[in-house]
Amino acid sequence: METPPSEVMDDSKAKQEELAKAIMARCFHPSVNGPESWEGYVFSGLEIRVKESTDLYGAVLWPSAMVLCHFLETSQDKHNLTDKNVIELGAGTGLVTIVSSLLGAKVTSTDLPEVLGNLQYNVTRNTKDRCKYIPLVTELIWGQDVERRFPRATHRFDYILAADVVYAHPYLDELMDTFDHLCQEDTQILWAMRFRLDPENSFVERFQQRFHVEELYDLPSLSIKLYRAWRKDRRTRDQGEAAA
Ligand SMILES: C[S@@+](CC[C@H](N)C(=O)[O-])C[C@H]1O[C@@H](n2cnc3c(N)ncnc32)[C@H](O)[C@@H]1O
Repeated sequence: METPPSEVMDDSKAKQEELAKAIMARCFHPSVNGPESWEGYVFSGLEIRVKESTDLYGAVLWPSAMVLCHFLETSQDKHNLTDKNVIELGAGTGLVTIVSSLLGAKVTSTDLPEVLGNLQYNVTRNTKDRCKYIPLVTELIWGQDVERRFPRATHRFDYILAADVVYAHPYLDELMDTFDHLCQEDTQILWAMRFRLDPENSFVERFQQRFHVEELYDLPSLSIKLYRAWRKDRRTRDQGEAAA
């Protein structure tokens, strides 16, 4: 007997809810507040302590980062990061960089200059003596000097990771160009996207003109989707743009 559609829908909603709960349960708060405030996470069987700072956007941890980390840890059969070249855009407090490094990747962790101090602190604190490769923390301002700092001829990344980098900021075109520059034929983009406003939906539409996109998670209770993307070859993209 076939399952009625409404039951299928309820079942998938329940699964999404369960997944969202499992992801958020990765976070714990310190039982006693010491002189320094931090958030705790458990990934790869290890406790990760991340220092946040309330005065900077990039120094607060956003749930999209937990979604991406959960996927990376639980999808190692399909996406084994061991010895892979990985770059993270808008790394913020560094959770995604830390988890990818614990999973064996060679990570370049990037953000705006003013965020790098806290990012470096968190990355060092959580990866020292725990990882095969020491992650590199460095500046990458979207759209600025990207070819000079990351020449395509010498910088080939297996994965581009990004969590919650699309929101109401004026650099969406520069971000798109940065994805485009860094993403080569064999590169996969894993991008956790939190939906808040309309400009963000239109970014996804424009992104789909340049990249093939697969939806990996849809978590309505968190307003987050996780995407995997890869380059459309030049011919397919040109045909798509001509038809638009
Ligand atoms: C909402 S936070 C997300 C931080 C982190 N990925 C997370 O999920 O916890 C957005 C990040 O993008 C960075 N960012 C914003 N504009 C940027 C730009 N023009 N170039 C590079 N990074 C930028 C911010 O500094 C911040 O770390």
